[in-house]
Amino acid sequence: MVQDFSDAKFDGMPKSAISTGIVDYILPAKDIGEALYKYVQHPLVANDTGDDKEKKQQTDYMKILSIVRTNTGEDFSYYKPKTIIRRIERRISVNQFEQLNDYLKYLVHSKKESEILSKEFLIGVTQFFRDKEAFELIEKNVIPTLFENASEKKEIRIWSAGCSTGEEAYSIAILCKEYMDKNDINYDVKIFATDLDYDAIKYAGIASYPESIVSDISTNRLQKYFTKHNDFYHIRDELRKMVIFSRHNIVSDPPFSKLDAIICRNLLIYLKNELQAKIFGLFQYSLLENGILFLGISESLGEASSAFEPISSKHKIYQYKPGNNPPALSGLIEIRKNKNIKIQPGFINPTNTTATRDISVGSIYEKAINHFAPSGVIIDSQNNIVHYFKDIKQYLDFPDGKPTNNFIELVDKQLSMVLSNLIYKVKKEKKTNTLSKFKFISNDTIKLLNIKAFIINISKYKQEYVVVTIEEDSIKPIPEKDDEDATTFDFDLQAAERIKELERELQHREENLRTTVEELETSNEELQATNEELVSSNEELQSTNEELQSVNEELYTVNSQYQEKIKDLTTLNNDVNNLLANTNIGTLFLDSNLTVRKFTPEIKKVVNVMEIDIGRPFSHLTLKCDYNRLV
Ligand SMILES: C[S@@+](CC[C@H](N)C(=O)[O-])C[C@H]1O[C@@H](n2cnc3c(N)ncnc32)[C@H](O)[C@@H]1O
Repeated sequence: MVQDFSDAKFDGMPKSAISTGIVDYILPAKDIGEALYKYVQHPLVANDTGDDKEKKQQTDYMKILSIVRTNTGEDFSYYKPKTIIRRIERRISVNQFEQLNDYLKYLVHSKKESEILSKEFLIGVTQFFRDKEAFELIEKNVIPTLFENASEKKEIRIWSAGCSTGEEAYSIAILCKEYMDKNDINYDVKIFATDLDYDAIKYAGIASYPESIVSDISTNRLQKYFTKHNDFYHIRDELRKMVIFSRHNIVSDPPFSKLDAIICRNLLIYLKNELQAKIFGLFQYSLLENGILFLGISESLGEASSAFEPISSKHKIYQYKPGNNPPALSGLIEIRKNKNIKIQPGFINPTNTTATRDISVGSIYEKAINHFAPSGVIIDSQNNIVHYFKDIKQYLDFPDGKPTNNFIELVDKQLSMVLSNLIYKVKKEKKTNTLSKFKFISNDTIKLLNIKAFIINISKYKQEYVVVTIEEDSIKPIPEKDDEDATTFDFDLQAAERIKELERELQHREENLRTTVEELETSNEELQATNEELVSSNEELQSTNEELQSVNEELYTVNSQYQEKIKDLTTLNNDVNNLLANTNIGTLFLDSNLTVRKFTPEIKKVVNVMEIDIGRPFSHLTLKCDYNRLV
């Protein structure tokens, strides 16, 4: 709850609290008490939530998660229920709903509330060098090892997953920069900092932090890596350039690859154990051998601990063991497979028994498919992978840079042109296309591959999916002269054919573009007119503002003149009082209503009067002498 800054005498504090974006109420000071009372009186806040109640309500909460998923596209069903339930209860009480059902009805129709609620689930607490001892260990032991291991490639890739508002990523950037400066080296350090919370990422990109950070960063570092401007500390450019921020969902987006270190702190604590295990599996794909994994103080590796060597168990710093085989990719992708399939509106209850049965039958099918089917993928209309089969990994090559899910970008270069053509043809002709005995060189062998692509149409998903399978026909060592058996793929012919098709498509798109440009030009003109109106009202507002400012300044001048006058009058008053007191003449000053205004000490000899009698009628006073007709 924050006081409305227009209602506050000094607006700095409320403005800064509102800018955090986590404020529930902005109210004038006079309304805060009542709102606070209402909030604590709310049944969900006032009552204890016992275990039974929790279980009973879990179904309803799953409905809420389903609505949030429909409205925002984010799935929080893999988050630990306790946190989720607490956050939902907070929103119910903030919105002052008595019944959960009323909140449900409200949520179905309010996309904004779904967005607020999903943001509420993402608890973004963070700070620079959070857990000082752990960061000291990183500085002393880990950073030097990272640089030594990268002495040949002179490039270091670090992923800060769940970076919130960026403090963690910048802390690591400071440590790397310090090491490079101390050792007079200059490596290409890239820190990929990602988070699901778009607002947090935006904040991190601005790289401007409030004064409170001084308690987390030494004065020396503050001076070296920050510039101060209007009560805010800005990260210097040299550091800012080392960090690349992007929105990324660790649960459903493809991971980064070829990483020297992953920092994933205080995110996994919010996720259910089975999801944590899958994410540790993905980390194994992302990390280079001997890569570093840095977790939060209360997080642990669980079953993945066999793949990592502890550097410090206390501070949760681990090293990925060389020669370790990461878990099968198909299992890891299970959770991510439906990402691009639009979620149908309606309530889905995962605790429902039929659904549970479907899931287990689904996994049996999947195991069976993995047993019989060749390696392959299912891709959507944009060529994004929605499912992997069997051991497709051998044909994929995770590129550097921003993570991608696009099959054509991920697939080995030898195959990308062929597959791009094949998929294009399948989508155009709407029939199965095959390519037999395609020569694929891997290590010291030649594999002859049979590639097949066909369309699957599932009406409820409203888009086409293409299945691509790759089957090994035979494997041979690389021969001295060309193999007659293998299909020599005529790249020139294929490319010419493809270019022709692309030219036709381009022409068609150009025509479309021209129409769109014309439409845009018309709306642009309208926008320009509106813009001009806005500019002129803005100018008017500005001049009103200037007038107000000048009136304000005048008021300041008048005010200071008054202050001077008050000072003069006070001095004068004191002088008169002293003068009267020293005359030794008993004097009583009365106003037109004969009430006491002032008196000299001498009068006390005649009249019973004290300071508290000022303002009382003279007739209330008694005389010390016998003179009844004075009044
Ligand atoms: C408590 S903060 C931790 C920040 C920082 N790592 C630290 O320890 O100081 C947790 C962060 O994880 C992010 N998060 C939660 N679920 C996520 C997901 N599925 N993918 C990416 N980030 C997620 C939240 O948005 C939040 O910023």
